[in-house]
Amino acid sequence: MADKFRVALSGDFKKPDGSPTFPDFDLEPLKSAPGVEMAFLPAANPIDSRHLADFDALILLVPRFGRESVPPGGRLSVVARFGVGYDNVDVDACNEAGIAVVITPDGVRRPVAVSILTLILALTGKLRIKDRLTRAGPAGFNQRAEHMGSGLVGLTLGSLGIGNIGAEMFRLAKPLDMKFIAHDPYADRAVAIDLGVELTSLEEVFRRSDILTVNCPLTQETRHLVNGERLLLMKPNAYLINTARGPIVDQKALTEALTRRRIAGAGLDVFETEPPAENDPLLKLDNVVLTPHALCWTDQCFAGNGAADVKAVIDIQQGRVPRGVVNRKVLDDPRFQARLKAYAARARA
Ligand SMILES: NC(=O)c1ccc[n+]([C@@H]2O[C@H](COP(=O)([O-])OP(=O)(O)OC[C@H]3O[C@@H](n4cnc5c(N)ncnc54)[C@H](O)[C@@H]3O)[C@@H](O)[C@H]2O)c1
Repeated sequence: MADKFRVALSGDFKKPDGSPTFPDFDLEPLKSAPGVEMAFLPAANPIDSRHLADFDALILLVPRFGRESVPPGGRLSVVARFGVGYDNVDVDACNEAGIAVVITPDGVRRPVAVSILTLILALTGKLRIKDRLTRAGPAGFNQRAEHMGSGLVGLTLGSLGIGNIGAEMFRLAKPLDMKFIAHDPYADRAVAIDLGVELTSLEEVFRRSDILTVNCPLTQETRHLVNGERLLLMKPNAYLINTARGPIVDQKALTEALTRRRIAGAGLDVFETEPPAENDPLLKLDNVVLTPHALCWTDQCFAGNGAADVKAVIDIQQGRVPRGVVNRKVLDDPRFQARLKAYAARARA
């Protein structure tokens, strides 16, 4: 076994001028960890397997880690994604090679939940319209009584999914005195009970929510879970908020519902195609608040993702199983277990 635990960062963590892409990602704990060495990979998409031959860990931003990226020699133990999406990682190829795939739920939980609250408050407070009125001078100002917002006390906040982010949204919304409901076929009931969230059927969450938020992953089962038929179940004064993944919502059907004022409005951080086309009719609507899949991008979010990835790779270097492993069956793979044992022995030496 080599004498150092070597960590690679995908080349896009550096800008072309060599400065860090995300200055809030603190690499100091990695640089100063005893027995650890780190290096940036040359820019490549997908990741080039030849660049990874001498590394134990990869921290990955945007490039794809495909089957062709798996380096020969069996040294690589972990691919740690910066964030919780891992559609750019070929998990099957990682399973076959005994490589753990790690994500950073602890980094995004609070920032995305805060984004959802931001959209709830912006929509119900008519923030966008009132900003426009004020900028229009006295004529706009004098129209303010025509744009009454909606108070939240007693309204029903609904969620499709009560996992990492959905639960945190309810946790943060507690003082708003709303009713909480969620549909989640795989819900942890204890979490729902603890947060005072009533679990409902899919149809009910559409019918009863005044604000319906999307907090489930994009899977075959959830693609277009929010479709034209279900949008028709919603109250005319209800809002839809999607910060999860664009294709969970049939965007054409949503645009139609918004145009016909079948629902009051929508807050969207994600889109079926990103970025949306310049002539997308959704961009013309005045009852939507739109953000470029980045409402949660804050100094704290990026620092949190970075810290979680650094912790995960140092856990492995110390022979410990990190948090956030997506492909848990790798933990039983004899090759992964042997590497972990060898790391632990070296860390103790
Ligand atoms: N906008 C952003 O920048 C951003 C950042 C991070 C995460 N996200 C997205 O937020 C979403 C939630 O992330 P998370 O960390 O809470 O994930 P999570 O896996 O912790 O929770 C997802 C929940 O959805 C539930 N679920 C699965 N299938 C469902 C279905 N058919 N109907 C209803 N619920 C279902 C799961 O049981 C789980 O409880 C994901 O789509 C993720 O990609 C977006």
